[in-house]
Amino acid sequence: MNILVLGSGGREHTFAYKIVQSKLCDKLFVAPGNAGTAQIATNVAISVTDFQAIKELVLKESINMVVVGPEDPLVQGISDFFANDDQLKDVTVIGPSKEGAQLEGSKEYAKEFLIRHNIPTAAYQSFTAATVAQGKQFLETLNAPYVLKADGLAAGKGVLIIEDIEEAKIELENMLTNKKFGAASEKVVIEEFLDGIELSVFVLTDGENYLTLPTAKDYKRIGEGDTGLNTGGMGAISPVPFANDAFMAKIENQIVKPTVDGLAKENIDYKGFIFIGLIKVGNDPKVIEYNVRMGDPETEAVLPRVKTDLVTLFQHVGNQSLDKASLEIDPRTATTVMTVSGGYPEAYEKGKEITGVDDISESIVFHAGTKLDGDKVVTNGGRVIAVTSFDDDFRLALKKSYQNIEKLHFDKMYYRKDLGFDL
Ligand code: AMP
Ligand code: GLY
Repeated sequence: MNILVLGSGGREHTFAYKIVQSKLCDKLFVAPGNAGTAQIATNVAISVTDFQAIKELVLKESINMVVVGPEDPLVQGISDFFANDDQLKDVTVIGPSKEGAQLEGSKEYAKEFLIRHNIPTAAYQSFTAATVAQGKQFLETLNAPYVLKADGLAAGKGVLIIEDIEEAKIELENMLTNKKFGAASEKVVIEEFLDGIELSVFVLTDGENYLTLPTAKDYKRIGEGDTGLNTGGMGAISPVPFANDAFMAKIENQIVKPTVDGLAKENIDYKGFIFIGLIKVGNDPKVIEYNVRMGDPETEAVLPRVKTDLVTLFQHVGNQSLDKASLEIDPRTATTVMTVSGGYPEAYEKGKEITGVDDISESIVFHAGTKLDGDKVVTNGGRVIAVTSFDDDFRLALKKSYQNIEKLHFDKMYYRKDLGFDL
Protein backbone atom coordinates (compact mmCIF):
# COMPACT_ATOMS: atom_id res chain seq x y z
CA MET A 1 0.00 0.00 0.00
CA ASN A 2 0.97 3.64 -0.32
CA ILE A 3 1.40 5.61 2.87
CA LEU A 4 1.63 9.31 3.74
CA VAL A 5 3.24 10.63 6.93
CA LEU A 6 2.31 14.20 7.87
CA GLY A 7 4.95 16.30 9.62
CA SER A 8 8.57 17.34 9.37
CA GLY A 9 10.34 16.52 12.62
CA GLY A 10 12.38 13.76 14.20
CA ARG A 11 9.16 11.98 15.10
CA GLU A 12 8.12 11.83 11.45
CA HIS A 13 11.57 10.69 10.30
CA THR A 14 11.28 7.87 12.85
CA PHE A 15 7.83 6.91 11.57
CA ALA A 16 9.22 6.88 8.02
CA TYR A 17 12.24 4.80 9.13
CA LYS A 18 9.92 2.15 10.61
CA ILE A 19 7.36 2.25 7.81
CA VAL A 20 9.86 1.67 4.99
CA GLN A 21 11.01 -1.48 6.80
CA SER A 22 7.54 -2.96 6.33
CA LYS A 23 6.84 -5.31 3.44
CA LEU A 24 3.35 -3.83 3.36
CA CYS A 25 4.64 -0.43 2.28
CA ASP A 26 5.01 0.21 -1.46
CA LYS A 27 5.46 3.96 -1.75
CA LEU A 28 6.01 6.30 1.18
CA PHE A 29 5.36 10.05 1.05
CA VAL A 30 6.15 12.58 3.77
CA ALA A 31 4.59 16.06 3.81
CA PRO A 32 6.44 18.29 4.18
CA GLY A 33 9.30 16.11 5.54
CA ASN A 34 12.97 17.03 6.02
CA ALA A 35 16.38 16.09 4.60
CA GLY A 36 16.26 12.77 6.47
CA THR A 37 12.88 11.68 5.15
CA ALA A 38 14.00 12.74 1.64
CA GLN A 39 16.57 9.90 1.74
CA ILE A 40 13.96 7.17 2.31
CA ALA A 41 10.68 8.59 1.02
CA THR A 42 9.25 11.20 -1.34
CA ASN A 43 8.84 14.59 0.30
CA VAL A 44 5.90 16.68 -0.83
CA ALA A 45 5.94 20.39 -0.02
CA ILE A 46 2.49 20.81 1.46
CA SER A 47 1.45 22.01 4.87
CA VAL A 48 0.04 19.54 7.42
CA THR A 49 -3.07 21.70 7.79
CA ASP A 50 -3.80 22.20 4.07
CA PHE A 51 -6.47 19.50 3.94
CA GLN A 52 -7.44 20.23 0.33
CA ALA A 53 -3.84 19.81 -0.88
CA ILE A 54 -3.53 16.63 1.20
CA LYS A 55 -6.71 15.29 -0.42
CA GLU A 56 -5.34 15.97 -3.90
CA LEU A 57 -2.07 14.19 -3.03
CA VAL A 58 -3.90 11.18 -1.55
CA LEU A 59 -6.07 10.80 -4.66
CA LYS A 60 -3.23 11.40 -7.12
CA GLU A 61 -0.86 8.91 -5.48
CA SER A 62 -3.51 6.34 -4.45
CA ILE A 63 -2.54 6.63 -0.80
CA ASN A 64 -4.24 4.09 1.48
CA MET A 65 -3.01 5.21 4.90
CA VAL A 66 -2.21 8.59 6.46
CA VAL A 67 -0.16 8.76 9.66
CA VAL A 68 -0.57 12.13 11.36
CA GLY A 69 2.51 13.26 13.31
CA PRO A 70 1.67 16.59 14.99
CA GLU A 71 -1.42 17.73 16.91
CA ASP A 72 -2.47 20.73 14.81
CA PRO A 73 -4.16 18.86 11.94
CA LEU A 74 -5.84 16.53 14.45
CA VAL A 75 -7.25 19.38 16.52
CA GLN A 76 -8.39 20.99 13.24
CA GLY A 77 -10.25 17.79 12.35
CA ILE A 78 -8.25 16.00 9.66
CA SER A 79 -9.72 12.60 10.65
CA ASP A 80 -13.27 13.90 10.29
CA PHE A 81 -12.31 15.53 6.97
CA PHE A 82 -11.34 12.09 5.66
CA ALA A 83 -14.28 10.25 7.24
CA ASN A 84 -16.82 12.69 5.78
CA ASP A 85 -15.44 12.71 2.23
CA ASP A 86 -16.76 10.05 -0.17
CA GLN A 87 -13.43 9.82 -1.98
CA LEU A 88 -11.36 9.60 1.21
CA LYS A 89 -13.50 7.66 3.65
CA ASP A 90 -11.75 4.33 3.00
CA VAL A 91 -8.29 5.75 3.72
CA THR A 92 -6.97 4.67 7.13
CA VAL A 93 -6.08 7.70 9.22
CA ILE A 94 -3.84 7.16 12.24
CA GLY A 95 -4.99 9.97 14.51
CA PRO A 96 -8.19 10.66 16.46
CA SER A 97 -11.31 12.58 15.48
CA LYS A 98 -11.61 16.30 16.26
CA GLU A 99 -13.59 15.42 19.39
CA GLY A 100 -10.90 12.98 20.58
CA ALA A 101 -8.17 15.52 19.82
CA GLN A 102 -9.76 17.85 22.38
CA LEU A 103 -7.92 15.78 24.98
CA GLU A 104 -4.88 17.78 23.86
CA GLY A 105 -6.65 20.79 22.32
CA SER A 106 -8.30 21.85 25.56
CA LYS A 107 -6.80 21.36 29.02
CA GLU A 108 -10.25 21.89 30.55
CA TYR A 109 -11.79 19.20 28.32
CA ALA A 110 -9.01 16.82 29.38
CA LYS A 111 -9.49 17.58 33.08
CA GLU A 112 -13.26 17.05 32.82
CA PHE A 113 -12.67 13.74 31.02
CA LEU A 114 -10.20 12.63 33.72
CA ILE A 115 -12.60 13.52 36.53
CA ARG A 116 -15.58 11.85 34.77
CA HIS A 117 -13.63 8.61 34.53
CA ASN A 118 -12.08 8.74 37.98
CA ILE A 119 -8.55 8.85 36.63
CA PRO A 120 -6.00 10.23 39.12
CA THR A 121 -4.94 13.80 38.32
CA ALA A 122 -4.18 17.09 40.10
CA ALA A 123 -7.08 19.06 41.62
CA TYR A 124 -8.01 22.07 39.46
CA GLN A 125 -10.43 24.82 38.56
CA SER A 126 -10.72 26.82 35.35
CA PHE A 127 -11.29 30.53 34.87
CA THR A 128 -12.05 33.11 32.16
CA ALA A 129 -11.61 36.89 31.90
CA ALA A 130 -14.98 37.25 33.63
CA THR A 131 -13.78 35.24 36.64
CA VAL A 132 -10.23 36.58 37.17
CA ALA A 133 -11.12 37.62 40.73
CA GLN A 134 -12.31 34.11 41.61
CA GLY A 135 -9.13 32.75 40.02
CA LYS A 136 -7.02 34.89 42.34
CA GLN A 137 -9.07 33.68 45.31
CA PHE A 138 -8.53 30.08 44.21
CA LEU A 139 -4.76 30.69 44.08
CA GLU A 140 -4.97 31.80 47.75
CA THR A 141 -6.30 28.33 48.67
CA LEU A 142 -3.31 26.52 47.10
CA ASN A 143 0.27 26.08 48.21
CA ALA A 144 3.23 27.26 46.12
CA PRO A 145 4.32 26.65 43.44
CA TYR A 146 1.30 27.63 41.37
CA VAL A 147 0.53 25.89 38.07
CA LEU A 148 -1.26 27.98 35.41
CA LYS A 149 -2.17 26.35 32.10
CA ALA A 150 -3.52 28.03 29.00
CA ASP A 151 -6.52 25.96 27.96
CA GLY A 152 -5.70 25.78 24.24
CA LEU A 153 -2.71 24.81 22.11
CA ALA A 154 0.27 27.09 22.80
CA ALA A 155 3.13 25.20 21.12
CA GLY A 156 4.25 23.69 24.43
CA LYS A 157 4.69 27.10 26.05
CA GLY A 158 1.30 27.50 27.73
CA VAL A 159 2.17 26.15 31.19
CA LEU A 160 3.61 28.46 33.85
CA ILE A 161 4.92 27.24 37.19
CA ILE A 162 5.36 30.15 39.57
CA GLU A 163 6.72 30.27 43.14
CA ASP A 164 5.38 33.64 44.22
CA ILE A 165 1.64 34.12 44.69
CA GLU A 166 1.63 37.80 43.68
CA GLU A 167 3.46 36.94 40.47
CA ALA A 168 1.01 34.09 39.86
CA LYS A 169 -1.90 36.54 40.15
CA ILE A 170 -0.25 38.92 37.68
CA GLU A 171 0.39 36.11 35.20
CA LEU A 172 -3.19 34.88 35.56
CA GLU A 173 -4.32 38.38 34.64
CA ASN A 174 -1.83 38.48 31.73
CA MET A 175 -3.15 35.21 30.39
CA LEU A 176 -6.86 35.95 30.73
CA THR A 177 -7.13 39.69 30.23
CA ASN A 178 -4.07 40.46 28.12
CA LYS A 179 -4.22 37.19 26.14
CA LYS A 180 -0.60 36.33 26.81
CA PHE A 181 -1.00 33.16 24.73
CA GLY A 182 -3.61 34.59 22.36
CA ALA A 183 -6.90 32.71 22.11
CA ALA A 184 -5.26 29.72 23.83
CA SER A 185 -5.34 31.56 27.18
CA GLU A 186 -8.90 32.89 27.02
CA LYS A 187 -9.47 30.17 29.55
CA VAL A 188 -6.90 29.11 32.17
CA VAL A 189 -6.74 25.93 34.23
CA ILE A 190 -5.18 26.45 37.67
CA GLU A 191 -3.88 23.21 39.07
CA GLU A 192 -2.50 21.77 42.28
CA PHE A 193 1.29 21.31 41.97
CA LEU A 194 2.33 17.66 41.91
CA ASP A 195 5.74 16.91 43.34
CA GLY A 196 7.48 13.91 41.81
CA ILE A 197 9.36 12.49 38.87
CA GLU A 198 7.81 12.58 35.39
CA LEU A 199 7.44 9.85 32.81
CA SER A 200 5.32 9.29 29.74
CA VAL A 201 3.33 6.32 28.58
CA PHE A 202 2.35 5.77 24.95
CA VAL A 203 -0.73 3.88 23.92
CA LEU A 204 -1.86 2.80 20.47
CA THR A 205 -5.63 2.33 20.33
CA ASP A 206 -8.33 1.48 17.80
CA GLY A 207 -10.93 3.07 20.07
CA GLU A 208 -11.76 -0.17 21.82
CA ASN A 209 -8.59 -2.23 22.19
CA TYR A 210 -5.14 -0.93 22.93
CA LEU A 211 -1.46 -1.79 23.15
CA THR A 212 0.81 -0.07 25.64
CA LEU A 213 4.09 0.92 24.00
CA PRO A 214 7.33 1.38 25.95
CA THR A 215 7.59 4.20 28.50
CA ALA A 216 9.94 7.14 28.03
CA LYS A 217 11.18 10.16 29.86
CA ASP A 218 12.03 13.35 28.06
CA TYR A 219 14.16 16.29 29.08
CA LYS A 220 12.26 19.49 28.34
CA ARG A 221 14.50 22.23 29.69
CA ILE A 222 17.27 23.74 27.58
CA GLY A 223 19.84 23.80 30.39
CA GLU A 224 21.69 21.07 32.25
CA GLY A 225 20.20 20.05 35.57
CA ASP A 226 16.73 20.85 34.14
CA THR A 227 17.23 24.60 34.16
CA GLY A 228 16.27 27.39 31.78
CA LEU A 229 13.47 27.64 29.26
CA ASN A 230 11.22 24.82 28.14
CA THR A 231 11.91 23.32 24.72
CA GLY A 232 10.10 20.74 22.62
CA GLY A 233 12.45 18.19 24.22
CA MET A 234 16.23 17.79 24.37
CA GLY A 235 16.38 14.02 24.49
CA ALA A 236 14.62 10.92 25.77
CA ILE A 237 15.29 7.60 27.47
CA SER A 238 13.18 4.46 27.04
CA PRO A 239 12.28 2.53 29.14
CA VAL A 240 12.14 4.60 32.33
CA PRO A 241 14.15 2.60 34.89
CA PHE A 242 11.85 3.31 37.87
CA ALA A 243 8.70 2.16 36.02
CA ASN A 244 8.77 -1.40 37.37
CA ASP A 245 6.05 -4.00 36.83
CA ALA A 246 4.06 -3.03 39.93
CA PHE A 247 4.05 0.64 38.95
CA MET A 248 3.16 -0.19 35.33
CA ALA A 249 0.24 -2.30 36.56
CA LYS A 250 -1.09 0.76 38.42
CA ILE A 251 -0.72 2.86 35.28
CA GLU A 252 -2.54 0.25 33.24
CA ASN A 253 -5.43 -0.26 35.67
CA GLN A 254 -5.90 3.27 36.96
CA ILE A 255 -5.06 5.25 33.83
CA VAL A 256 -4.68 3.49 30.48
CA LYS A 257 -7.69 1.19 30.65
CA PRO A 258 -10.09 3.80 32.07
CA THR A 259 -8.92 6.24 29.37
CA VAL A 260 -9.63 3.88 26.46
CA ASP A 261 -12.85 2.61 28.06
CA GLY A 262 -13.92 6.21 28.66
CA LEU A 263 -13.39 7.10 24.99
CA ALA A 264 -15.40 4.06 23.91
CA LYS A 265 -18.18 4.71 26.43
CA GLU A 266 -18.51 8.30 25.22
CA ASN A 267 -18.52 7.17 21.56
CA ILE A 268 -15.46 9.28 20.79
CA ASP A 269 -13.90 8.04 17.57
CA TYR A 270 -10.26 7.49 18.46
CA LYS A 271 -7.84 5.58 16.26
CA GLY A 272 -4.31 6.57 17.01
CA PHE A 273 -1.78 7.30 19.70
CA ILE A 274 -2.44 8.56 23.21
CA PHE A 275 0.60 10.05 24.92
CA ILE A 276 -0.06 10.24 28.64
CA GLY A 277 2.18 12.55 30.67
CA LEU A 278 2.44 11.33 34.26
CA ILE A 279 4.01 12.33 37.53
CA LYS A 280 4.90 9.66 40.09
CA VAL A 281 3.71 11.10 43.40
CA GLY A 282 4.92 8.81 46.17
CA ASN A 283 4.19 5.46 44.57
CA ASP A 284 1.18 6.54 42.56
CA PRO A 285 0.88 7.78 39.00
CA LYS A 286 -1.14 10.93 38.28
CA VAL A 287 -1.96 12.33 34.86
CA ILE A 288 -0.63 15.80 34.04
CA GLU A 289 -1.60 15.84 30.40
CA TYR A 290 -2.86 13.95 27.41
CA ASN A 291 -1.41 14.42 23.95
CA VAL A 292 -3.19 12.87 20.99
CA ARG A 293 -0.03 11.93 19.07
CA MET A 294 3.40 10.53 19.77
CA GLY A 295 5.97 12.68 21.56
CA ASP A 296 8.99 14.24 19.94
CA PRO A 297 11.77 13.25 20.78
CA GLU A 298 10.18 10.33 22.71
CA THR A 299 9.29 8.65 19.40
CA GLU A 300 12.99 8.54 18.45
CA ALA A 301 13.63 6.35 21.53
CA VAL A 302 10.35 4.41 21.72
CA LEU A 303 9.68 3.31 18.12
CA PRO A 304 13.14 1.87 17.39
CA ARG A 305 12.44 -0.53 20.29
CA VAL A 306 9.21 -1.76 18.70
CA LYS A 307 10.12 -4.84 16.65
CA THR A 308 6.58 -5.54 15.49
CA ASP A 309 5.82 -4.35 11.96
CA LEU A 310 4.40 -0.85 12.42
CA VAL A 311 2.22 -0.91 9.31
CA THR A 312 0.60 -4.17 10.47
CA LEU A 313 -0.20 -2.49 13.78
CA PHE A 314 -1.68 0.51 11.95
CA GLN A 315 -3.82 -1.81 9.80
CA HIS A 316 -5.20 -3.36 12.98
CA VAL A 317 -5.98 0.13 14.26
CA GLY A 318 -7.85 0.91 11.05
CA ASN A 319 -9.83 -2.36 11.18
CA GLN A 320 -10.46 -2.10 14.92
CA SER A 321 -8.77 -5.46 15.41
CA LEU A 322 -5.90 -4.45 17.67
CA ASP A 323 -6.94 -7.27 20.04
CA LYS A 324 -5.46 -9.63 17.42
CA ALA A 325 -2.06 -7.89 17.46
CA SER A 326 0.78 -8.21 19.90
CA LEU A 327 3.93 -6.24 20.52
CA GLU A 328 7.49 -7.42 20.39
CA ILE A 329 9.78 -4.99 22.18
CA ASP A 330 13.57 -4.81 22.18
CA PRO A 331 14.46 -5.17 25.88
CA ARG A 332 17.49 -2.92 25.56
CA THR A 333 17.38 0.75 26.50
CA ALA A 334 17.24 3.34 23.75
CA THR A 335 18.39 6.89 24.35
CA THR A 336 18.09 9.81 22.00
CA VAL A 337 20.00 13.07 22.30
CA MET A 338 18.78 16.13 20.40
CA THR A 339 21.21 18.61 18.90
CA VAL A 340 19.78 22.11 18.61
CA SER A 341 20.61 25.45 17.00
CA GLY A 342 22.41 27.94 19.27
CA GLY A 343 19.85 30.35 20.75
CA TYR A 344 16.95 27.85 20.69
CA PRO A 345 14.27 27.94 22.16
CA GLU A 346 14.53 31.68 21.58
CA ALA A 347 15.75 33.24 18.32
CA TYR A 348 18.23 31.18 16.28
CA GLU A 349 19.62 31.14 12.77
CA LYS A 350 18.83 28.61 10.07
CA GLY A 351 20.65 27.46 6.95
CA LYS A 352 23.89 26.28 8.64
CA GLU A 353 25.58 23.40 6.85
CA ILE A 354 25.52 20.09 8.74
CA THR A 355 28.49 17.75 8.31
CA GLY A 356 29.58 14.45 9.84
CA VAL A 357 26.27 12.58 9.59
CA ASP A 358 27.88 9.86 7.45
CA ASP A 359 30.62 9.30 10.08
CA ILE A 360 28.10 8.17 12.67
CA SER A 361 28.13 4.46 13.39
CA GLU A 362 26.30 2.21 15.86
CA SER A 363 23.65 4.91 16.37
CA ILE A 364 20.62 5.95 14.33
CA VAL A 365 20.40 9.49 13.03
CA PHE A 366 16.95 11.06 12.91
CA HIS A 367 16.64 14.41 11.21
CA ALA A 368 14.40 17.02 12.86
CA GLY A 369 14.91 20.59 11.62
CA THR A 370 16.94 19.96 8.45
CA LYS A 371 16.48 20.51 4.75
CA LEU A 372 18.37 19.95 1.54
CA ASP A 373 20.07 22.95 -0.02
CA GLY A 374 21.42 21.67 -3.33
CA ASP A 375 23.49 18.67 -2.28
CA LYS A 376 24.12 20.06 1.22
CA VAL A 377 22.08 19.32 4.33
CA VAL A 378 21.42 22.51 6.31
CA THR A 379 19.69 23.42 9.56
CA ASN A 380 16.05 24.42 9.23
CA GLY A 381 14.74 24.56 12.80
CA GLY A 382 15.56 24.79 16.49
CA ARG A 383 15.85 21.07 17.02
CA VAL A 384 18.13 19.77 14.28
CA ILE A 385 19.23 16.13 14.58
CA ALA A 386 18.53 13.39 17.13
CA VAL A 387 21.02 10.58 17.69
CA THR A 388 19.52 7.34 19.04
CA SER A 389 21.58 4.50 20.54
CA PHE A 390 20.88 1.17 22.19
CA ASP A 391 22.52 -0.59 25.10
CA ASP A 392 21.57 -2.72 28.08
CA ASP A 393 22.16 0.23 30.37
CA PHE A 394 20.97 3.78 29.66
CA ARG A 395 24.37 5.22 30.61
CA LEU A 396 26.12 3.13 27.97
CA ALA A 397 23.50 3.98 25.37
CA LEU A 398 23.93 7.68 26.14
CA LYS A 399 27.68 7.34 25.87
CA LYS A 400 27.29 6.03 22.31
CA SER A 401 25.01 8.91 21.38
CA TYR A 402 27.44 11.44 22.85
CA GLN A 403 30.45 9.87 21.12
CA ASN A 404 28.64 10.05 17.80
CA ILE A 405 27.43 13.60 18.31
CA GLU A 406 31.11 14.59 18.60
CA LYS A 407 31.36 13.75 14.89
CA LEU A 408 28.47 16.06 13.94
CA HIS A 409 29.09 19.70 13.12
CA PHE A 410 27.05 22.80 12.46
CA ASP A 411 27.61 26.38 13.52
CA LYS A 412 26.49 26.98 17.16
CA MET A 413 25.39 23.36 17.71
CA TYR A 414 24.28 22.70 21.31
CA TYR A 415 23.04 19.64 23.21
CA ARG A 416 22.57 18.63 26.82
CA LYS A 417 25.34 16.44 28.16
CA ASP A 418 23.54 15.41 31.36
CA LEU A 419 20.56 13.34 30.20
CA GLY A 420 19.60 10.71 32.74
CA PHE A 421 21.13 12.75 35.59
CA ASP A 422 17.95 12.32 37.64
CA LEU A 423 17.56 8.55 37.22
P1 AMP B 1 1.96 20.08 30.24
O1 AMP B 1 2.03 20.90 28.99
O2 AMP B 1 0.61 19.99 30.87
O3 AMP B 1 2.66 18.76 30.10
O4 AMP B 1 2.91 20.83 31.29
C1 AMP B 1 4.25 21.11 30.99
C2 AMP B 1 5.11 20.72 32.15
O5 AMP B 1 4.70 21.42 33.32
C3 AMP B 1 5.03 19.26 32.52
O6 AMP B 1 5.89 18.48 31.77
C4 AMP B 1 5.43 19.29 33.96
O7 AMP B 1 6.84 19.37 34.09
C5 AMP B 1 4.86 20.58 34.45
N1 AMP B 1 3.56 20.39 35.08
C6 AMP B 1 2.36 20.42 34.49
N2 AMP B 1 1.37 20.23 35.39
C7 AMP B 1 1.95 20.09 36.58
C8 AMP B 1 1.47 19.87 37.91
N3 AMP B 1 0.18 19.81 38.17
N4 AMP B 1 2.38 19.76 38.89
C9 AMP B 1 3.69 19.84 38.62
N5 AMP B 1 4.22 20.06 37.41
C10 AMP B 1 3.36 20.18 36.39
N1 GLY C 1 8.39 15.96 24.01
C1 GLY C 1 7.12 16.44 24.38
C2 GLY C 1 6.10 16.46 23.35
O1 GLY C 1 6.23 15.90 22.29
O2 GLY C 1 5.03 17.03 23.61
